[in-house]
Amino acid sequence: MKKKFAVIGYPLTHSLSPLLHNSVFKKLRKNCMYSAVEIKPGELEKKVDYLKKNYSGFNVTIPHKIAILGYMGQTDDDAKKIGAVNTVLVENGKLMGYNTDAPALREALGNPHGKKILVLGAGGAARAAAFALSKRNSIRIYNRTKERAEELAKETGGSAVERIGDAIKDCDILLNTTSVGMHPNTGESPASTKDLMNAKKNLVVCDIVYNPIKTKLLAIAEQLGYRTISGVEMFVRQAALSEKIWLGIEPDIKFMRETVVKELEKK
Ligand code: ATR
Repeated sequence: MKKKFAVIGYPLTHSLSPLLHNSVFKKLRKNCMYSAVEIKPGELEKKVDYLKKNYSGFNVTIPHKIAILGYMGQTDDDAKKIGAVNTVLVENGKLMGYNTDAPALREALGNPHGKKILVLGAGGAARAAAFALSKRNSIRIYNRTKERAEELAKETGGSAVERIGDAIKDCDILLNTTSVGMHPNTGESPASTKDLMNAKKNLVVCDIVYNPIKTKLLAIAEQLGYRTISGVEMFVRQAALSEKIWLGIEPDIKFMRETVVKELEKK
């Protein structure tokens, strides 16, 4: 029987997850399909049973990543620590919650250990990033609203900083978790050329925004000669890790990257 998977969230008009997962299923000849199921804020409760009965697993995105936790029979360590689930496995009528964003980010950054990481932002994505990386690295957090940076720093054992240009001086990795620079606001960057100029030569700059592939932040970093990692890297890895949980497969990251890049370049 065909196995059904989905992404739940709202809105999902621009989600690349159906294209990405269906491309993998087709390539590996898996009898599976993946669709987008829009669930508006506040409607999750009445849809959980439907999901349980009709799907073998699903991804969870904004605005349900936190609320879905309440319905899990079991959750993995990353999901517990972060307080958010992005992948659910349905097994024997039970929901098991995982967070594949965390390991995907660690993998995209090359599993950093002992690095100084400056995180831009203090929202949901920053929270996942800070928890995912804080065990083995030292985290600094910059946010437009300083109090939120302080709050997150306290929770993750990091420190809040007031100026990117100062904090970046001895950092190894700069990670943007804000939506600044995301389509259609492609002319914006969460850090300026002046801020980035203060960093060491071997700084790595990573953006979790993947549309556009080369954000203004990454363009500035590239111009200054820093290594860059685009948001596509984390996006494809969280999808690959979800498929491992659902089907035990380890799809080819290169194929997944090409699929996403081809689609984004069409736009
Ligand atoms: P998500 O769950 O995607 O992280 P969020 O919780 O709304 O979304 O958080 C968005 C993050 O992007 C926040 O850190 C936000 O800063 P504030 O806490 O000051 O709101 C940041 N952000 C969004 N738009 C921004 C902008 N134009 N300039 C700077 N930071 C911005």
